[in-house]
Amino acid sequence: MKTSQTPLNEIQPTAQSKTNQFLNDVLLGLQSNPKQLYSKYFYDAIGDKLFQDLMNCEEYYPTNCELEIFSEKTAEICQAMIADGSAFDLLELGAGDATKSTYLLQYLLDNGADFTYLPIDISEHVISYLQLTLPTTLPGLKVDGLNGEYFEMLKESSANSSNRKVVLFLGSNIGNMDVQEAEAFCKALRNQLSPGDLVLIGFDLKKNPSTVLAAYNDREGITKRFNLNLLERINRELGGNFNMDNFEHYPTYDPATGACKSYLVSLCNQVVTINNQHIHFLKDECIYMEISQKFSVDDINQMAQSCNFMPANQFFDSKKWFIDVIWVAA
Ligand code: AVI
Repeated sequence: MKTSQTPLNEIQPTAQSKTNQFLNDVLLGLQSNPKQLYSKYFYDAIGDKLFQDLMNCEEYYPTNCELEIFSEKTAEICQAMIADGSAFDLLELGAGDATKSTYLLQYLLDNGADFTYLPIDISEHVISYLQLTLPTTLPGLKVDGLNGEYFEMLKESSANSSNRKVVLFLGSNIGNMDVQEAEAFCKALRNQLSPGDLVLIGFDLKKNPSTVLAAYNDREGITKRFNLNLLERINRELGGNFNMDNFEHYPTYDPATGACKSYLVSLCNQVVTINNQHIHFLKDECIYMEISQKFSVDDINQMAQSCNFMPANQFFDSKKWFIDVIWVAA
């Protein structure tokens, strides 16, 4: 961490307030109709590991498609970032293990770009891992990991540096918002930036519906465990008493809208207790767990325009299943 930054313990919620927030969100979600949980809570240490397994599973194509783009089109992507010639801050929202960005980081280092890499992630585990490993795997890299919510951390980075910004939002993380939320998110992102700043966003494209659905219904059952882990997390951290055998994973995909949604279905009438609150489930009642929205290229260009960005570059994988776009803040 840069010493000029606000110490993390002053800007981060305490562990207790994080737990309270988790509890409030869970109770509010399960007491609403229809029931729902936020997919951002999938990612505890076990969820991180399950997501790693998912990215290596045969049916889950988005990771390999985007990896292909980053490995095959590294020079074109990086040239678009450094064309301006000035020093920049490379911020990555939801950096994960930074596998994809490592292609870019290596190229930028090899080509003498003047930049600092600021991975931002809600997971402390992820940021401490990157802070520890990246200086060894990429000698010479300036890393300044930020653990917290995206917009708070973006604001903090702007307060600490006046360099132009290049913001990475990869892995179709944008798909974990519905279309209205994604648009609101891009508008908020634009408001944090100055004209000429860049964003590089990975979108999963609409494609054969069976291919999409299979990615969220893998034969090994990793996606199912990934979803059920949130119920287990509620048991572990909030003292809930979910019985995993009483829930079934149910993914859906609507090719007309591009909305791929996952649910957990209650297999019987049951009552689950969380922090002394009783949650009643009817047989066949669903918990809406996650959206993984798919887009057309037109949807993406329209979104850029309505959020005050200019579409600049498009990078596809060879199957045209995935796209990374660069937008310029107008
Ligand atoms: C992180 N995110 C983009 C993944 C997705 O495809 O929506 C999460 C995921 N959920 C089930 N499989 C993968």
